[in-house]
Amino acid sequence: MKLEIQAGRTLLISGPASVRLEDGSVNIFGAPIHRRGRFTVRREKQMPIEIVEDSKFDVEFGERATYLEVEGSTVPESWKEATRRIGTSGESKILIIGSTDTGKSTFSIYLANKMLKHNRRVAIVDADIGQSDLGPPSSIGLSLVTEPLIELEGATVEAMIFVGETSPSRVVDRVINGIMKLETRIPYGTVKVINTDGWVTDEGAIEYKVRMAERLEPSLVIGLDDVGELDPIMSMVKTPKMKIHVPKYIKVRSREERKHIREHGYRRYLREAVYRNFLLDRIEANDLLERKPEKGNILGFIDSEGFMIGIGIFESLNRRRGILRAYTNVNFRKVSRVECGNIRLSPQGQELPFSVDQTWKELR
Ligand SMILES: Nc1ncnc2c1ncn2[C@@H]1O[C@H](COP(=O)(O)OP(=O)(O)OP(=O)(O)O)[C@@H](O)[C@H]1O
Ligand SMILES: [Mg+2]
Repeated sequence: MKLEIQAGRTLLISGPASVRLEDGSVNIFGAPIHRRGRFTVRREKQMPIEIVEDSKFDVEFGERATYLEVEGSTVPESWKEATRRIGTSGESKILIIGSTDTGKSTFSIYLANKMLKHNRRVAIVDADIGQSDLGPPSSIGLSLVTEPLIELEGATVEAMIFVGETSPSRVVDRVINGIMKLETRIPYGTVKVINTDGWVTDEGAIEYKVRMAERLEPSLVIGLDDVGELDPIMSMVKTPKMKIHVPKYIKVRSREERKHIREHGYRRYLREAVYRNFLLDRIEANDLLERKPEKGNILGFIDSEGFMIGIGIFESLNRRRGILRAYTNVNFRKVSRVECGNIRLSPQGQELPFSVDQTWKELR
């Protein structure tokens, strides 16, 4: 379908769609799109294309894709203000918090793009372990951003930490320690943008986010707040903080869509996986030996420095011969430790329930 849109307006496309800019000048979250450039909008995602000069598009819409034209920008004024403040004040570590579907990931991208424009080096740490775009679900990923981004998925991942869960409540310290470990891989003088999960309202969540702010010592906490839901956290955080608005045109995702996104995330990291045998006299596997995983259990393969190389799916363990069999694309030569997570997957990356047996073991 051909679309012609005037300067000053925004074209909002909900995927799946493939878009080609035939003529004109546009940007997405501050990242310019080249004329005759093509990009895709994934299913479950929405992209606001800001029209800088009158533009012509050729768009192929997939099933259930939609589009909408609105006047002006869909980026809230408070986002612009926050980025101006960060750009001019030299803030160097930004912790982004907010409930689910508030624009946390998008603000991370927007901020990174704006900082690049200020000629600053930028790193994004994606610590949203359930909906992570950097690394598979159940991990934390780091990207050193060198070019403007229109989405996080697909950005080069510099390093990852295996957490083994997709919801943070049982792994709060693991997540905080993981972020701190990834920070050791960020070059000096780089603006650090830390994206977090959407668990913010109950008592555990408040304690977790406040502890995160205390331990990470960000120079600024940015809260994406809709109706004051972040007030309990923001009032307890002692570092400088700023609330910004949830965009009006946010695309909310259902539970099913979130599950689908996670499964797509596992699959990306199981590409070209095969069944492999690992000799347990060569790798540290105490976690695995203690936990007695069942077939399908997610595994994290860790290198000698403690960073995750990739994930795998537990198949079997021969204790007598000391052989672990797993479905993975990770090469055993780099592995120094294997850890076991609390997720069960099919080789196609679908999330499976644990058997009754395993539940009983956990509850005991
Ligand atoms: N300013 C905006 N204009 C238009 N669309 C937006 C804007 N901000 C975010 N969106 C869209 O809304 C959706 C949700 O945003 P985003 O993924 O950033 O939220 P999130 O808080 O990170 O969600 P999650 O809790 O799943 O991590 C995305 O498809 C995104 O592209
Ligand atoms: Mg997000």
